[in-house]
Amino acid sequence: KKIGVLYGGTSSEREISLKSGKAVLNALKKLKLNAVGIDVDKNVSEKIKKAKIDIACIMLHGPMGEDGTIQGMLEIMGVPYTGCGVFASAASMDKNISKIFFKSAGVPTPEWAVVRKFEPVPEIKKFPIVVKPATQGSAIGVSVVKSRKDFAKAAKEAFKYDDEILIEQFIKGKEITVGVLDGGALPVVEIVPKGKFYDFKSKYAKGGSKHIIPARISQKAYAAAQNYAKKVFKTFNCRAVCRVDFIVDKNDKVWALENNTLPGMTETSLLPDEAKAAGLTFADLILKILECSLG
Ligand code: DAL
Ligand code: MG
Repeated sequence: KKIGVLYGGTSSEREISLKSGKAVLNALKKLKLNAVGIDVDKNVSEKIKKAKIDIACIMLHGPMGEDGTIQGMLEIMGVPYTGCGVFASAASMDKNISKIFFKSAGVPTPEWAVVRKFEPVPEIKKFPIVVKPATQGSAIGVSVVKSRKDFAKAAKEAFKYDDEILIEQFIKGKEITVGVLDGGALPVVEIVPKGKFYDFKSKYAKGGSKHIIPARISQKAYAAAQNYAKKVFKTFNCRAVCRVDFIVDKNDKVWALENNTLPGMTETSLLPDEAKAAGLTFADLILKILECSLG
C-alpha cells in the first residue's frame, strides 16, 4: 500500500509541519514502506489523486490540517487517513469549544471569556491573564498580560490570527503534557522553558526548553493528569492519538489548557519523547498510529 504523508500546509505552523512530516516520511522509508510526501495547498485533492495513495498520513499542524478540514476532504474522497476524525479535530482546534467540553467532562480548566472582533470586551477583574487566538497552535499569537494597560496590544496580536480570541485566567505552575495512544495514557512530561512560558521560541529553538520524564509532580497530580488526558481522548472521540496540555498549580491542582489532535512529530517533539519513555521507538509510534487509525 502506498502512504502519502501530508505535510507543510498553509497555517502559521507550516515549518513545524514540514519537520514533523519529513521525520515521519524518513521513518516510513527506513521501514521499507512505500511512502511519498505531499505538500498541502489548495490543489491537494489533485495531488492526492495523481500520487495514487491508498492511505493519507496527516502531519499537518494548525488550521486547514489539524482542524477537520483536510479530514473532511479525505472522507469525501474515500481515502483512509491517520489520527482523529472531523469532529475531534474541529472541536480540539477551537480552544473555546474545547474548554466547554473539558468542563462538561469534569476536567478542570482555567476560567475564561471569549471576545469576538468588533464586540465589547468583558470587564477583566483579575490579572494576570493569557490572551490567545481561539484557533492556533504552537503558542502563536499568545501573550501573558499582567495589567489592563497591556491588554489592547495583546488582543491586537491575537486578533491577527483569528476573529475570536480567548481571555483566560493565568495559572502559575508547572507546564506538563500527556500523550494518549490508543486510549492509554503515556508517561507525563514536564516542560521547562528557558523563557517565561512555553512560547514559540522555547518550543522550537535548540535548547529553548527541556523535557523531564517523568514530570516532577506529586503522584496524585501525575495520576490526575493521566486520567484527565484519557477522559479528553474519550470525550472528544479521538482516534489513535492526542496530546493534552496542562498546568499543575502549587496546590497540586491539574488544569487542562488544550487538546492537540496532531501533536508535533519531530524526533525531539514531546509525544515521541513520551513514547520513548514508554519503550516505543519513533518507528513503533508511527506504526501504532497507522494501526489504530486503519483498524
Ligand atoms: N502544535 C504543536 C505542533 C504541538 O502541539 O506539538
Ligand atoms: Mg496546540
